[in-house]
Amino acid sequence: MSEYIIREFTPEDLDAVIRINRENLPENYPPFFFKLHYENFPKAFLVAESGGRVVGYIMCRVETGKLYTMPGVGKQGHIISIAVVPEMRRKGVGRSLMVNAMKALYEHYGVNEYYLEVRVSNTPAINLYTKLGFKPVKTLKGYYLDGEDAYLMAKPAP
Ligand SMILES: CC(C)(COP(=O)(O)OP(=O)(O)OC[C@H]1O[C@@H](n2cnc3c(N)ncnc32)[C@H](O)[C@@H]1OP(=O)(O)O)[C@@H](O)C(=O)NCCC(=O)NCCS
Repeated sequence: MSEYIIREFTPEDLDAVIRINRENLPENYPPFFFKLHYENFPKAFLVAESGGRVVGYIMCRVETGKLYTMPGVGKQGHIISIAVVPEMRRKGVGRSLMVNAMKALYEHYGVNEYYLEVRVSNTPAINLYTKLGFKPVKTLKGYYLDGEDAYLMAKPAP
């Protein structure tokens, strides 16, 4: 089954999202971290569902700070975590999650730009973000707990 829909996260999805996070990313968070983002930025916490099963998620938050893509201070849509289960990859799910989350960040929260961190070795994710118009802004040395560097990538909204 490769058809899928993108919809807003609901609390019933929490266990599935936590499982996908733990199985697909080294950066794992306690349940309250997911709940906090849902409570504060529900429109930008999305899941992909296929055959009644959650197969991917994207979780974001809105921050205020010095913008990376233009001069001045503004609202930033920070993509915190995104993952798609292995058997549903390369079908456009990751791209759809990103596109829908960026739309929500702009339309509901009025962000001026989007940004994220990505491991310098994570070619699939870097390709996805580059295709969507994200550009590397800087390298964050030793950003991850295992010592790997991150690229901070950003893109102006909308
Ligand atoms: C990164 C991730 C979310 C992409 O999800 P996906 O549903 O497979 O992505 P899409 O099918 O929408 O792919 C969109 C584009 O991303 C790039 N891409 C995705 N997977 C790729 C791969 N394995 N190798 C190279 N490029 C890849 C391609 O440019 C692709 O477009 P194309 O299929 O037309 O060539 C998924 O690989 C994943 O969950 N990885 C593990 C978790 C992770 O690394 N999250 C990101 C942390 S920053």
